[in-house]
Amino acid sequence: MRIAVVGSGYVGLVAGACFADLGHDVILVDNDQQKVSALRSGQVPIHEKFLPELLQRHRGKRLEFSGDLQAAVRASSAIFIAVGTPPTEQGEADLSYVESVARSISAAINGYKIVVEKSTVPVYTSDWVRKIILRNAAPPDSFDVASNPEFLREGSAVTDFLYPDRIVVGADSERCAAVLRQIYAPLTDGSYYGRKDAIPRPDGAHIPPPLIVTSAKSAELIKHASNAFLAMKISFVNAVASICEAVGANVEQVCQGIGSDSRIGPRFLSPGIGYGGSCFPKDLMAFRSVARECGYEFRLLDEVMRINEEQRQRFLRKVRNALWTLRGKRLGVLGLAFKGGTDDIRESPAVLLVQALVQEGCQIAAYDPAASQRAREVLTAGVDFAASAYDAAAGADALLILTEWEEFAALDLKQLHSKLKYPIVIDGRNLYDPRVMAAHGFTYYSVGRTSASPEAQAAAASAPARKLKKS
Ligand code: UDX
Ligand code: UDX
Repeated sequence: MRIAVVGSGYVGLVAGACFADLGHDVILVDNDQQKVSALRSGQVPIHEKFLPELLQRHRGKRLEFSGDLQAAVRASSAIFIAVGTPPTEQGEADLSYVESVARSISAAINGYKIVVEKSTVPVYTSDWVRKIILRNAAPPDSFDVASNPEFLREGSAVTDFLYPDRIVVGADSERCAAVLRQIYAPLTDGSYYGRKDAIPRPDGAHIPPPLIVTSAKSAELIKHASNAFLAMKISFVNAVASICEAVGANVEQVCQGIGSDSRIGPRFLSPGIGYGGSCFPKDLMAFRSVARECGYEFRLLDEVMRINEEQRQRFLRKVRNALWTLRGKRLGVLGLAFKGGTDDIRESPAVLLVQALVQEGCQIAAYDPAASQRAREVLTAGVDFAASAYDAAAGADALLILTEWEEFAALDLKQLHSKLKYPIVIDGRNLYDPRVMAAHGFTYYSVGRTSASPEAQAAAASAPARKLKKS
């Protein structure tokens, strides 16, 4: 099928490349001419595993890049809208780009088309898109509007798209639903996974994925509610971590205990310095305001956002408690991206903490495997960008772990210890085992666990063994 994808950002580019890999002819449209030329010339503007291969495989064959939205609409049966929906001052989703795309689509309808929301949008958006297209003179039976939310995570976007937990199709007519079933058929009938050149199956992926058909409104709500629930789970475990710190319990043990309950599940129970990224923060605010518009005060989401903010303040206090004063201190920082596996620093808790520490008069030496280039644009003072994790630690009063990059968990602790001025590590992502850190001579602070140090370990080792009461 010939498909147009409007907006070549994270979601649009990945969706377009994957649709081509499913066998569709795709026109990827963007109104940023520089981005279109860069994509045509073979550049890959985002750091996503498997994306360079897919673009290489289909560029100029089943995948073309264009700045001409209307030509793409005329040539296509399905048009996916994946433009930005950034937050307004008030936290609502700014849908002006979606509206302008809808207006342009209307003028190019030359036969039945489906117009599909791929960006995260509040409930009612599909109604508005339909109204705008009708208002601009498209015949009512010449198109349908659907919602097909994307659940991909940055860093694993391609495999999340091709091996989803579910495909949600929000369509208010069977004719429209049928087109979307056809588009995703290579995934839902499993034929894609039988191909030799299929993108490898990630561990734990269930194939074929279920396709859930709902109304457009329900699909729009599924996306907001899913992101809100995941963020709530993170804030919940961060709140539990704060209680663990107060009573001397171990949050990792607690997570193992609660996560083993199949009704809760172990995923998204990693405590840390809070969630960030281009989705959770803005989607929670947008969901909060659309709920208010519908007359429902969704106060639970306020608390999810408040706990997330507080997590960073708690971490700052931990740094102060470990170092006493901060002015003039040199801190090594590992991680600037909002999470491991991506170069994206949008709403990154790491960047927000570095800015706060620079504000307090600290000199920062920061290392990130992929995000330093983007971070240089926002961290313009008080930060040296180190070439390696060990360089970032060199001569530092303490080392802060702010992003959960796997490579940080595999560092040579002896070398790290030799680099630091003081062997103090404050871990905002619980990447290390406290006993191992103490055994390597570090004073180690983490989230939801008792701090560890060689002295505390020696004291514990020499303390007379307490008999565990027989249960
Ligand atoms: C988008 C949505 O913003 C977000 O709500 C959703 O959660 C995920 O998809 P993302 O792909 O990260 O997020 O957006 P962004 O990286 O900002 O890309 C949007 C693209 O659309 C940009 O390349 C921009 O140039 C393009 N665009 C924007 C258009 O082509 N036309 C427009 O009118 C506006
Ligand atoms: C998220 C959703 O997961 C995805 O389904 C949606 O389409 C877009 O938004 P993404 O923003 O790429 O994806 O990142 P995700 O992996 O969800 O992590 C979000 C944030 O939560 C990161 O800052 C991460 O560090 C943090 N996080 C995640 C935790 O603090 N603890 C966890 O257990 C999981």
